[in-house]
Amino acid sequence: MAIRVRLFLPTDREALTTLVTRLSAFDLHPWRSADQIDRTNISMLETAMDEASPNDAIFVAEDETTRQVIGFVRLQTQTDYFSGERQGYISNIAVDPSVEGQGIGRMLLEQAEIWAREKGFDRLTLHVFVENRRARQVYEKYGYWQDIIQYIKVDHELKTRNQAYYDKVIARLTARARHIMKAFDYPDEEIPDEFVTSDQVAGVPAPPLEKDIPEGATTLDLPAIDEIQLGQMPLIDVFKKRRSRRVYTDDHLSLDELAYLCWAVAGVHEIGPKEIWTKRTSPSGGARHPFETYLVVQRVDGVEPGIYRYAGLRNQLVLVKTGADFCAQLGEMAMQKFVSNSAVIFIWTVIPYRNEWRYMFTSAKQIPMDIGHYCQNLYLAAESIGAGTCAIASYRQEIVDDLLGVDGKDEFTIYVAPVGKIEG
Ligand SMILES: Cc1cc2nc3c(=O)[nH]c(=O)nc-3n(C[C@H](O)[C@H](O)[C@H](O)COP(=O)(O)O)c2cc1C
Repeated sequence: MAIRVRLFLPTDREALTTLVTRLSAFDLHPWRSADQIDRTNISMLETAMDEASPNDAIFVAEDETTRQVIGFVRLQTQTDYFSGERQGYISNIAVDPSVEGQGIGRMLLEQAEIWAREKGFDRLTLHVFVENRRARQVYEKYGYWQDIIQYIKVDHELKTRNQAYYDKVIARLTARARHIMKAFDYPDEEIPDEFVTSDQVAGVPAPPLEKDIPEGATTLDLPAIDEIQLGQMPLIDVFKKRRSRRVYTDDHLSLDELAYLCWAVAGVHEIGPKEIWTKRTSPSGGARHPFETYLVVQRVDGVEPGIYRYAGLRNQLVLVKTGADFCAQLGEMAMQKFVSNSAVIFIWTVIPYRNEWRYMFTSAKQIPMDIGHYCQNLYLAAESIGAGTCAIASYRQEIVDDLLGVDGKDEFTIYVAPVGKIEG
């Protein structure tokens, strides 16, 4: 489509009064009404169209083939409150929704800059509603900064209006969450292709496959899987038995049993060239395996109670801290009570960058899928040794992260599974 940007003509009037209603087309705060915004914008625009001032200008974007007006920008001259200097002000900018994302907004903003430069202004300003996220993204992309923020305090007596507003927010959050669940995709208008480069493609070295073992840390070698005579139950019987188990006996797990469970969850089969990836007992998108497996040990023969990390690359436990009542603390304060009586709690954290290095923000879809595999492996392995587990997604994030000593930002808890021996 060939577009040209030109000065406003009286024949553009009707098109502009229609386009200006775009400025209220987003989830407005409850104390604002689209009707009111539209009426005011139309009235101000009509005055500007009637009384062309040499200090102001209106430019329109026109489809050269159809002669249809598909966007406009209205510019005014203003004086900065603090410096007293004259500056350009973008009072309205709107693009027809049918041609959004095709660079027309950018053309109009460029025209505004040309106009400002010709007038000798070194800056352009504009106002935008906080909730108009789409517009804000566009401005920020083209170099606009937040300057003054207007706060507002409103008497919220109109509960129903608030409810309608928050219903819309919930709908927006739900839509966003659904979007993450779809196949990897991002709208071009949000990020043009040339700006989408993963760190892997940019040549940034791959992050470590697992967290380092700190110098001087206490470690415990686990028996190698080939030395353990466990997991002989036929798979068909394991599948038939599998249930979420929330009642555990007071029995201990043996060290072999713990080693078997750890290996079933995150045991390493193969390490890729230059230590870029690992193949493990479960599949992981891009073989990234962005997880760390922590164990809150309460009743395991030969392992002092405390918190450990399973270092799959070395088949070792790394001591994080000793302490006998972490399971009780977690059961009381961070998740459901039944957790307190587990023999060991598996807590998985995610280090998102291990995945983002390759998949950037689309990792948000993959990571939850991958951790599901870990947990299912734990379910099956536990059943095969007369133990049981129960997946837990409902826990107090900060308490668990604090207990593990992770920062909650670059590494945080994502899934929990208490394990114990079961009756029968
Ligand atoms: C993602 C996920 C989250 C879960 N979160 C919890 C939880 O927080 N607390 C709990 O008691 N069970 C939790 N469960 C276990 C489910 O309640 C259980 O799988 C479901 O009731 C079916 O029972 P079954 O696993 O025995 O077939 C979770 C399961 C999954 C897969």
